[in-house]
Amino acid sequence: MKKPIALKNISENTVFRKGDVFVLFGELFGRGYATGLLDQARKAGMQIVGITVGRRDENNALRPLTSDELSEAEARLGGTIINIPLMAGFDLDAPAGGPTPTDLLAGLTLESWEREKLDWDYIEKCQAVATERFTGALSQVMAVLDGMIPAGRNVFFAHTMAGGIPKAKVFLVVANKIYKGTGARHMSSQALIDSDMGKLILRNFDEVSANTFQHLLDFSAAIRERVETSGGQVRYTAYGYHGTGILIGGEYRWQTYTNYTQGYAKMRLEGIAEDAWAKGVKATVYNCPEIRTNSSDVFTGIELPLIPLLLALKKENGGKWADEQWQACEALLADGFTLDDVIAKISSLQASDVMVPFYDFSAWPMPNSQTQADLTIGTSNEITAMHRDSKVMISDLLSALVVEATGQLIFGASSEPHAPVQWLNHDVVARRLNASHEGVSAKAGAASSQMETAA
Ligand SMILES: NC(=O)c1ccc[n+]([C@@H]2O[C@H](COP(=O)([O-])OP(=O)(O)OC[C@H]3O[C@@H](n4cnc5c(N)ncnc54)[C@H](O)[C@@H]3O)[C@@H](O)[C@H]2O)c1
Repeated sequence: MKKPIALKNISENTVFRKGDVFVLFGELFGRGYATGLLDQARKAGMQIVGITVGRRDENNALRPLTSDELSEAEARLGGTIINIPLMAGFDLDAPAGGPTPTDLLAGLTLESWEREKLDWDYIEKCQAVATERFTGALSQVMAVLDGMIPAGRNVFFAHTMAGGIPKAKVFLVVANKIYKGTGARHMSSQALIDSDMGKLILRNFDEVSANTFQHLLDFSAAIRERVETSGGQVRYTAYGYHGTGILIGGEYRWQTYTNYTQGYAKMRLEGIAEDAWAKGVKATVYNCPEIRTNSSDVFTGIELPLIPLLLALKKENGGKWADEQWQACEALLADGFTLDDVIAKISSLQASDVMVPFYDFSAWPMPNSQTQADLTIGTSNEITAMHRDSKVMISDLLSALVVEATGQLIFGASSEPHAPVQWLNHDVVARRLNASHEGVSAKAGAASSQMETAA
């Protein structure tokens, strides 16, 4: 992508109705992005089908969910789970009897990891084993799914898979330094991706966060053809991340969390949607704002661009409900602190000479630097400390709002998707929230058109 293409208009669902099938391609966690989309599918009366990544037993063998795990997961989902493990990535796969890539990483030490070389021919074999395992399981999943879709139904596939961090001690220490370390504990993200360990991890990110979308498109082709032949429609969505347009100095501008090491996989994901789109498949990656979830909590400071959503709520004609969100957020701060203090800290970070060079769309994902990491992580820690209770944060409240709005936006846009890659910036998110909660007109404002040129 040369520039971020914003979703500007708020659309309503005109395709999906009772009895149509919604397939969640990834597991559901309480506060993850998928919850917002699922809410919409449920409201439309769709039949919900989920998958599981499975679980590892004590010997790392992948197994389906036990009956207790399955009923718990189905209750959370509100639908049926096809209990065939779809764990992606090759970190724990190997040719019979051989070491897995995670075993190979276990041999690295904090002193040696930067210079140690990996046997790429062998890693390719592990990757091939994993791909065969995943696609074998996926064809079984699709056979079961095919039997669950009656003729004449529409189908919505929602891809949510992202991950691929291997459980190797040395990597976890390095990741902690990159995403959470300041001062002497800082580590360069470039040092990681220049190393063989880093290259292995990038490959695994590609496998989990991008290639799974390609497999989903490929292995559901027969279902797609059958549904379309019988007059039904099929849509595919995936969650991307590629920075977000947020209010900075009164204007919507593109910015990003740094270092987003998974960014290469997310660009690959975009490319997969573009290729599918060019072949006539309605597949769209929605690049979503920074929020706090089980997966993103590893990135300290990811919540900093989220907090100015409060400004967008006001700018996009927010009224009583938007004021209530301000008050609810302010009530989470300890005595003596105001939301203006929090927002001022974020504004000064965004305007600082340290951060400005990182807001370069064409250079994304840029490596971190000592001063940038110190400022991002330091500001995040300071803002956390301004809260009454570090377990109940402004970013929790705002994350839930973004999940709600993106669910509505993506579900609505999917009836008539406009492009293979779309950004959900704070303007459209705020307009969606204001429209739902205060009945404010959801028409596109002038601000969103500035956004594309600004970036
Ligand atoms: N949190 C953010 O700030 C943010 C921003 C933009 C986009 N996203 C994207 O939204 C999507 C959902 O993430 P989320 O932040 O809601 O977190 P989440 O933890 O709720 O979801 C992560 C998903 O990835 C799946 N997953 C993890 N490892 C896997 C593996 N090895 N194989 C198969 N599946 C695996 C999980 O089952 C789950 O469905 C992801 O694609 C993520 O990149 C997140």
